[in-house]
Amino acid sequence: MHRQTPRCVTTLLTLHRLAIDLARAIRRSARGRPAATTKPVQRGRLAPPTPARKARTAKTCGTEVGQHWVSSPPLQHVEFPGGHLDVNILIIGGTRNLGHFLTLSLVSRGHCVTLLNRGQTRDDLPAGIPRLRADRCDEAQLRGALVGREFDAVVDTALYRGREAREVVDVLDGRVGRFVFISTGQVYLVRTGAARPFSEEAYSGALMAEPQGSSSDLNDWRYGIEKREAEDVLAEAWERRCFPVTSLRLPMVASERDHYSRIHGYLLRLRDGGPLLLPRPPWLGVRHVDVHDVVAAIERLLASSAGLGRTYNVSPDETLTLGAFLDLLATIACVPKRTVLVDRALLESRALLPACSPMSDAWMSELDNARGRSELGLSYTRVAETLRRIVAHYDAHPGPSPASYGRRAEELALAKEAGCPNASA
Ligand SMILES: NC(=O)c1ccc[n+]([C@@H]2O[C@H](COP(=O)([O-])OP(=O)(O)OC[C@H]3O[C@@H](n4cnc5c(N)ncnc54)[C@H](OP(=O)(O)O)[C@@H]3O)[C@@H](O)[C@H]2O)c1
Repeated sequence: MHRQTPRCVTTLLTLHRLAIDLARAIRRSARGRPAATTKPVQRGRLAPPTPARKARTAKTCGTEVGQHWVSSPPLQHVEFPGGHLDVNILIIGGTRNLGHFLTLSLVSRGHCVTLLNRGQTRDDLPAGIPRLRADRCDEAQLRGALVGREFDAVVDTALYRGREAREVVDVLDGRVGRFVFISTGQVYLVRTGAARPFSEEAYSGALMAEPQGSSSDLNDWRYGIEKREAEDVLAEAWERRCFPVTSLRLPMVASERDHYSRIHGYLLRLRDGGPLLLPRPPWLGVRHVDVHDVVAAIERLLASSAGLGRTYNVSPDETLTLGAFLDLLATIACVPKRTVLVDRALLESRALLPACSPMSDAWMSELDNARGRSELGLSYTRVAETLRRIVAHYDAHPGPSPASYGRRAEELALAKEAGCPNASA
């Protein structure tokens, strides 16, 4: 059952204030004034936000600190007895992929985790975790579910649009110590002329016009544009209201719970003996992040005051060509790699893309991770290690084939047409 009055303290809010104090001290000492004393971390309830406090913090975070805290904010780790952080965390979402692993990890570390979702996605998490039911796209439902509640931290994995970002800020303002928004590398893919791998600075600049071609391109473009709108609302909320946001931009997440079954789909096709059907190059580089590295990055944020008001790419720096990635996957799966190259237009005309090769379109991002490494100390798993774990998982839990594998017979028929007589499953 959810506790309306959290036993856990607002440690992160205190850290937030510490970070502000430190930034102020740096500014003061630069002006030749003595530094303010930093207060020790204390336990205590979140004070209700008064108009005066809101005005003060908005000024402090938005103009004084926000503008200047750009190079290297301090990373202050907080050790709690037993190594547990014991903070009160809401995950908006939480049951599909990243949220599932994040919830399990946070609970295993002794945190108080509450989930908020609609109850539509399959939920494999332990029954004892408190669940709030709401469609976050309906502000009244969101408000109703969260009324009277306060959280040390909120991780939002289900925020896709500017309007919902505005609503969540309104609902949580003054009642959350830290807000982590899960964004995407797609925010760079809707830019024009941004150089790969994308650094966080590549966010600014001209945007692509709405694509006129395939509906899949339109969906991808809209996803990137709307995630940008959500990021912009949150960045403004930090500037104006000191809403304690950190946004994390992810490339494709490599995970055994990937609901698009991207790695699983390639693996099934390698294992069935028939060739992989790939569109002819050019292909973009393949740079994925291990789901557990994202969990670790979020936990690192929750354990420190670093990164408030900041945005970070969470991505390894290993980029493989699609060919090298598939070689590696085949080697790990101990099967030969057979491929047939077909014109992209032909695959599209038969609606076999993206299912037959989900990593060969133009919507694969490639992110630079220097900021997250230097400011947060993020580190990454080697792609071979991630793939070994994922392959072992699918071998141990074969389960039903994903929908994206459902038209495999048509793929093999096309492979034969394209000159691969031995194509068979
Ligand atoms: N997977 C990738 O490759 C990738 C790459 C880059 C960025 N991302 C970002 O990662 C996030 C998604 O991660 P995930 O699927 O792994 O998260 P998750 O937290 O594991 O699952 C998504 C959750 O959102 C809930 N949800 C969806 N719509 C909702 C609504 N209208 N109201 C309330 N809850 C809702 C779902 O539950 P119900 O359906 O039961 O409501 C589910 O619990 C997204 O923000 C995405 O942009 C993912």
